[in-house]
Amino acid sequence: MGYKALCFGFSCILFAYCLYSPIPENIEEPWKVRYVDTLIKTISLTATLFENIGLMKYEKIFSTATAFYITQAVSDENITVIDTDFSNIPVRLYLPKKKLERKRPAVIYIHGGVFVAGSCKMKAHDNLNRLTSNKLGAVVVGIDYRLAPQHPFPAALEDCVSVIKFFLQDSVLAKYKVDPSRICIMGDSSGGTLAATVTQLLRNDPKFKNRIKAQALIYPGLQMIDTFLPSHREYEHGPILSRDMMLKLASLYVTNDSSLIQALLRNEHMPEGSRHLFKFVNWSDFLPEKYKKNHVYIEPVLGKLNASYPALVDSRLFPLLVNDSQLQNLPLTYILTCEHDLLRDDSFIYITRLRNVGVQVVHDHMEGGIHGVLSFTTGSVVLHLGFKIRNRYIRWLEENL
Ligand SMILES: *[C@@H]1O[C@H](CO)[C@@H](O)[C@H](O)[C@H]1NC(C)=O
Ligand SMILES: *[C@@H]1O[C@H](CO)[C@@H](O)[C@H](O)[C@H]1NC(C)=O
Ligand SMILES: *[C@@H]1O[C@H](CO)[C@@H](O)[C@H](O)[C@H]1NC(C)=O
Ligand SMILES: *[C@@H]1O[C@H](CO)[C@@H](O)[C@H](O)[C@H]1NC(C)=O
Ligand SMILES: *[C@@H]1O[C@H](CO)[C@@H](O)[C@H](O)[C@H]1NC(C)=O
Repeated sequence: MGYKALCFGFSCILFAYCLYSPIPENIEEPWKVRYVDTLIKTISLTATLFENIGLMKYEKIFSTATAFYITQAVSDENITVIDTDFSNIPVRLYLPKKKLERKRPAVIYIHGGVFVAGSCKMKAHDNLNRLTSNKLGAVVVGIDYRLAPQHPFPAALEDCVSVIKFFLQDSVLAKYKVDPSRICIMGDSSGGTLAATVTQLLRNDPKFKNRIKAQALIYPGLQMIDTFLPSHREYEHGPILSRDMMLKLASLYVTNDSSLIQALLRNEHMPEGSRHLFKFVNWSDFLPEKYKKNHVYIEPVLGKLNASYPALVDSRLFPLLVNDSQLQNLPLTYILTCEHDLLRDDSFIYITRLRNVGVQVVHDHMEGGIHGVLSFTTGSVVLHLGFKIRNRYIRWLEENL
């Protein structure tokens, strides 16, 4: 009885919250978005509660929830799907069955999940990679890199680099009939962070300099050194991704020490002597006028955190921290941004910086768009926007890879 009453009470609060939660006006399917947003906020709230009473770590609930969606490798009439490993790191391969004269393009897929959750084997990602393989006749490689906090920075990045270097060997490309001149690296959200970084590392490595034709970044996170960009302020409470949740989870990729979270929230986490890095992410220089609105640039406060985390000044953690001469070498770049996304301005800054040094960038901006919707293309809540983004990205691949 007590349990039922509790559930009922909880549902009422949820429902009221759902009704009340404000979302921007130009969002399509507003009720579904409200529902998903409420659900995620409830998970975050429950996770905080569980952590405070010592039941479970905050991030555990997210990794458990995403693990629920993991699928088996199932081949169909068009594609052979195989789980295997490259260089001891688990990957899922999608190999088109149709015989072709021509060699195939390849897409390397890096999933999101704020470094602590998710898998390329989740249903929505599996569907995306099947579709990509099918539409392009491409070999797709999904990477199941190690996750934080068990495996902090740079574990995830190292796994992605190892897999890609393994795949790029002539013998491996030949085995899967891949055309070495048509390879793209793609990632969404924190997978976009990793995709951008891996692409930089390969492009600046003489041995791999010209091996990647293109990169595709879908609403990526590209820096955390200034956590008060205009989009961070405007979308502090989401929808979908809130500042609190994002910083809490992402900080685990750096450390387990919760003092970093508090410092990140106050934008006082960067060490003394790192001021020179802020010119790379200074939104007052790089953001289009339209998005500056009435925001005033506030310089982050340095040297407030006692512990030192070298990762915070490392461009292998934040792709925006490299200088222009390292950006210059980057390949054709596709970036998809959403208007109502906390991470939006990271991309705007990257796009401006890339174009300033002459990198060819295709920018697809979704007015009314929200973060993370590629994951809402299957299951109990399906958002039309997810399909729209998926189709735009695949169309771009068809025309450019
Ligand atoms: C296989 O490819 C054909 C032609 O593109 C398509 O119509 C069909 O739906 C595909 N099958 C699956 C299971 O995706
Ligand atoms: C952080 O905590 C996880 C367990 O939650 C542990 O496996 C990991 O080793 C810890 N990381 C560090 C850097 O201490
Ligand atoms: C950021 O840009 C503004 C305006 O261009 C400038 O006044 C400020 O000094 C810059 N700050 C840093 C840390 O580069
Ligand atoms: C950092 O160190 C100073 C001096 O040792 C101390 O007063 C302060 O409380 C410490 N701050 C944190 C966040 O631990
Ligand atoms: C850019 O960074 C690289 C690596 O840190 C360094 O070798 C190079 O000198 C830098 N170039 C400029 C123009 O600062």
